[in-house]
Amino acid sequence: MRPVSTVILGTGSYAPSRVLTNADLAKQVDTSEEWIVSRTGIRERRMAAADESTSDMAAKAGAKALEDAGLAAADIDLLIVATVTPDLVMPACACIVQRKLAIPHHAACFDLNAACSGFIYALDTACAMISSGRYKHALVIGAEKFSAILDWKDRSTCILFGDGAGATVIGGSETPNIGLLATKLGAYGESVDLLYIPAGGSDQPATPASIAAGDHCVKMKGKEVFKFAVRAMEEAARDILEQEGLTADHIDCVIPHQANLRIIEAISQYLKLPMDRFFINLDRYGNTSAASVPIALDEARRAGRIKRGDLTLMVAFGAGLTYGSALIRW
Ligand code: UT7
Repeated sequence: MRPVSTVILGTGSYAPSRVLTNADLAKQVDTSEEWIVSRTGIRERRMAAADESTSDMAAKAGAKALEDAGLAAADIDLLIVATVTPDLVMPACACIVQRKLAIPHHAACFDLNAACSGFIYALDTACAMISSGRYKHALVIGAEKFSAILDWKDRSTCILFGDGAGATVIGGSETPNIGLLATKLGAYGESVDLLYIPAGGSDQPATPASIAAGDHCVKMKGKEVFKFAVRAMEEAARDILEQEGLTADHIDCVIPHQANLRIIEAISQYLKLPMDRFFINLDRYGNTSAASVPIALDEARRAGRIKRGDLTLMVAFGAGLTYGSALIRW
């Protein structure tokens, strides 16, 4: 039977214990606490241990979301992991998480790569699959070990990112007008080379030369990405509100992708939505890519920032360049 609505039944998140501060980074590259805080708002980020994988973090966040939802792994028939840092190129990180959580064999398990917009893409995908009536409970996880793909000599990127995972459990409901009300997803594929990893894929398989050149690490044109982020997130937020006949005033809490405080401030200004409606934790985690939105969502819920009946807007951008927004009524 097709459910009337698709709702978030539980959330969870996990961050590795090792903290890397701006002062620590200033010992490694030519940067400073003042530069990083004033340009990004980031004060520290978490680093996975050498033997801690994306799937380890994903499984920990997933287990917390299941507990929060009051469900068992046996109840899950759909598992999506949004990530650009899967443990292996093949098979999917989702299959490794399935094994770690003992999710049943009849569950569909796959990864989704939309970079930092990945969680919103995965949420939309899971909700559509549950709306079809063919799946009952989805575990949707955003997880990244971004530290593994950074060039630790490149000060323009290594200061921005962190590791972690966030998860949600999604199910159907017979109550109308709750849960995922609308989404807006899109991409500007012509701008692929503004944020990408040149080598290590099938186009340029890793060679000693590509590794020596650091071509298996993230390359980014920061200024261009910044401009795209502000424009795309503002449009994605505006479009979704218009689509639902709502205005910014109706939003109780915004969960933005936690990339840069200045990007969030610009969106707050353009949407005329005060900063106190935005949930921000980038000062503690930096940009955790696909994990950023679900970690922030979990922390916002646990901090009492989201209550029954509230309207939450999630909005993100990322490599691709992708963007996405989602409106949730709790
Ligand atoms: O999820 C998507 C991930 N990507 C993003 O979110 C990136 C979006 N872009 C940004 O957040 C910003 O563009 C950055 C934080 C990356 C850079 O800030 P900016 O204000 O755009 O700085 P900039 O790139 O224009 O660089 C200004 C100066 C340059 O020096 P010169 O050419 O003026 O002498 C850089 O070399 O700052 C220098 N710089 C640094 N200085 C100290 C760049 N990185 C650093 C650093 N520490 N870490």
